[in-house]
Amino acid sequence: MKRYKILFICLGNICRSPAAEGIMLKKLGARGLSDHFLVDSAGLLDYHAGELPDVRMRKCGQARSYNFNSRSRPIKPDDITNFDMLVCMDKSIVHSVEKRCTTQTDKEKITLMTDYCVKLNAREVPDPYYGNTNDFNNVLDILEDSCDGLIEKCLVISDLCLVICDL
Ligand code: 4NP
Repeated sequence: MKRYKILFICLGNICRSPAAEGIMLKKLGARGLSDHFLVDSAGLLDYHAGELPDVRMRKCGQARSYNFNSRSRPIKPDDITNFDMLVCMDKSIVHSVEKRCTTQTDKEKITLMTDYCVKLNAREVPDPYYGNTNDFNNVLDILEDSCDGLIEKCLVISDLCLVICDL
């Protein structure tokens, strides 16, 4: 079975994108869709390579029953060709990832996470690294809302709609 491959991208891969990954995995699982997707996250920086997500993000996630346990890694050229969707947390990340793309096809895989928001009116997922608990919870609110919209979008643009409707 072909899995639809989504990569979430932020700066350090210890706050926003690992949380997006964990939330997306949980929501896909709850809808019985896990087998149809491959979800991962990466950062532009390698400062935190190998580290678990920031303890503040893990704590805020635990309070909402998430377990954010991926290890930070920097994005690599293969990611850009291998993933179907490159979902960036803010506009500066979009620009940096665009610069790493060598084909128009790859550039077209890039989207902004907040474009999938369904209830909230956020324009970017703000970097919470120098912020407080409220900032981390705000990130989680935005990610939960945008993951809902992203799942709907993926069902439409991948062949999954057809697969699931045929079952
Ligand atoms: P993230 O947050 O991009 O959401 O993982 C950050 C984490 C670390 C740094 C910046 C942002 N840093 O500069 O180390």
